[in-house]
Amino acid sequence: MMDWTDRHCRYLHRLLSTHTRLYTEMVTTGALLHGDVPRHLDFNHEEHPLALQLGGSEPADLAACARLGEQWGYDEINLNCGCPSERVQRGSFGACLMAEPQLVADGVKAMCDVVSVPVTVKHRIGIDKVESYDFVRDFVGTVAMAGCSVFIVHARNAWLKGISPKENRELPPLRYDTVHRLKRDFPALTIVLNGGIKTAEQIDEQLTQVDGVMLGREPYHHPWPMADWDRRFFGDAASGIDRDGVEAAMVAYMERIAADGEPWSRASRHMMGLRDGQPGARRWRQVWSDHRLKSWPASAVSAEARRALASAAVSAGFDPGQVASTTPNSASANATA
Ligand SMILES: Cc1cc2nc3c(=O)[nH]c(=O)nc-3n(C[C@H](O)[C@H](O)[C@H](O)COP(=O)(O)O)c2cc1C
Repeated sequence: MMDWTDRHCRYLHRLLSTHTRLYTEMVTTGALLHGDVPRHLDFNHEEHPLALQLGGSEPADLAACARLGEQWGYDEINLNCGCPSERVQRGSFGACLMAEPQLVADGVKAMCDVVSVPVTVKHRIGIDKVESYDFVRDFVGTVAMAGCSVFIVHARNAWLKGISPKENRELPPLRYDTVHRLKRDFPALTIVLNGGIKTAEQIDEQLTQVDGVMLGREPYHHPWPMADWDRRFFGDAASGIDRDGVEAAMVAYMERIAADGEPWSRASRHMMGLRDGQPGARRWRQVWSDHRLKSWPASAVSAEARRALASAAVSAGFDPGQVASTTPNSASANATA
């Protein structure tokens, strides 16, 4: 998610779930062809499996960037056909590409021709007021013929005029039935549903109709329930990591990036929701966000934040030992209750 997620955020999410596929924010072909490639493409090896999302429309540029992405080590190249922002429309890519399925197909084919990793597409169910199912069905059909077999479908139209990108994630109504219908009509394709999903129960429900579910905002704000996803959705053992373990691993990571000259707060900002639901979470967050402590080592800030957490828990009548040993499963149940 542009301006929100980055490799530090993905490092946190990967500590919580080994199997969940992670996606970069959209990186434009222009930024890769004319900008600072390492700045846009570098990632931590721990982030795999990881998809690079491209924004662009010119098949030759997409192919060059897909090749770069594969060389950099990405496991999937995803094309954005869902972003409604005016800046993106001026570049003739993002959601407005849904009006040009053949151009998307040409771009997908150009990418498939030069990489061996999967090329996938993320799109909306329609643009502006076009609500006919045929529109999205024909889009998927045309693009699938070019070699794409995975479609991530944000289950609402993109309104290209008059509302902001933020409103475009809330205002057009969600229509999950359209995504379910795509799966029924294209059973051989992998159809992943996106939009408005918050709980593990909602994911379970969608998985009876589609092949996968993508979540954006919810795990960004409330990451901890992800610690139960390997067990619940991927049939693996629970990670066994607790929130203290996640914080300790993030502190080690922050010290690593600080040693390379990057402020550790670029990583800590993504874990503000880690303690949600625990007594003292607000105090813990306040310590981590305190600007006066930014010159301290991350380990010292963590010690201070943990002290604040424990003392707030004691004042609220909780045993701090119990707070520290909360397991992912019970916490997930709390978070989704
Ligand atoms: C700040 C922000 C930035 C976003 N940037 C991207 C992006 O770069 N690429 C993309 O495909 N979707 C982007 N999205 C949309 C989300 O990926 C997702 O499709 C949308 O928020 C609906 O899913 P959700 O309800 O689970 O958040 C962004 C969303 C937000 C809130």
